[in-house]
Amino acid sequence: MTVVYLNGQFLPEDQAHISPLDRGFLFGDSVYEVIRAYRGTPFRLDEHFARLAYSLGEMRIGAYLSPLKEVPARLVAENGLEGKDALVYLQVTRGAAPRSHAFPPPDVKATIFGMAWAFTPNPAWRDPGVSVILVPDFRWSRCDIKVTSLIGNVLAHQRAVDAGAHEALLVRDGAVLEGTLSSLFAVFEGEVRTAPLSNYILPSITRSVTLELCRAGDIPVREAPIYDHEVPQAEELFIASTTHELSPVCAVGDRPLPPERPVTEKLQRLFREAVERECA
Ligand SMILES: Cc1ncc(COP(=O)(O)O)c(C=O)c1O
Repeated sequence: MTVVYLNGQFLPEDQAHISPLDRGFLFGDSVYEVIRAYRGTPFRLDEHFARLAYSLGEMRIGAYLSPLKEVPARLVAENGLEGKDALVYLQVTRGAAPRSHAFPPPDVKATIFGMAWAFTPNPAWRDPGVSVILVPDFRWSRCDIKVTSLIGNVLAHQRAVDAGAHEALLVRDGAVLEGTLSSLFAVFEGEVRTAPLSNYILPSITRSVTLELCRAGDIPVREAPIYDHEVPQAEELFIASTTHELSPVCAVGDRPLPPERPVTEKLQRLFREAVERECA
């Protein structure tokens, strides 16, 4: 039996009821987080909660987050996932109210939902790695907010699936910004590069961990645009996300990338060491 969290209660999934008038359902008026638990311990929980607070603030959704911080560990425990690798999903919507574009009255409470499930990444994402295609970025211009209105990401991702690829990299004004569910890194002449933070990308937690690891590991790194015309010259490309960790790109469209990936492999090692340290 799966136990979920809904508005202060832990209860069986089939007893968790959300109103059809919930604005998360009607408008996609909600934000979310996906948190990785290693051996049952949430990784970078503070960073995920800081981003959740940012998303809620930008959306002007009022929700008191402090008590919520216990929810990921409790969901892990309630679902028998202690000591296991898992994902925890949290979503906060603006609540249920008669349908109207305008915000509901302030007494309408946010809906807060959480669930957890056992998760191990597909080994193929590490070896041979993931294939990608480039797709025009037709999402909105507030990609820095982690909203559940993900239709732009979904449509772009499906183009990758239809093309037999694993991920679609989103291109806006010639810059390859990020994937539909991952951030993007490239290595040029030994230097790691990723798009700078802006309203056009998600402030990915794995991206910030990767930057931290580059700096700690003396790997040259720069936050600067990666242009689509530069992609063929990249020595290595990898995507990064909570679910993927760091996954090397093995092909862009029909063009394979070299199988040697010294920088990606060093960062994967450093990432694993960080997990070992922080989720002992
Ligand atoms: C568009 C986008 N970029 C990047 C990421 C990676 O973010 P994180 O490292 O916080 O999982 C995600 C994850 O869902 C995403 O949806």
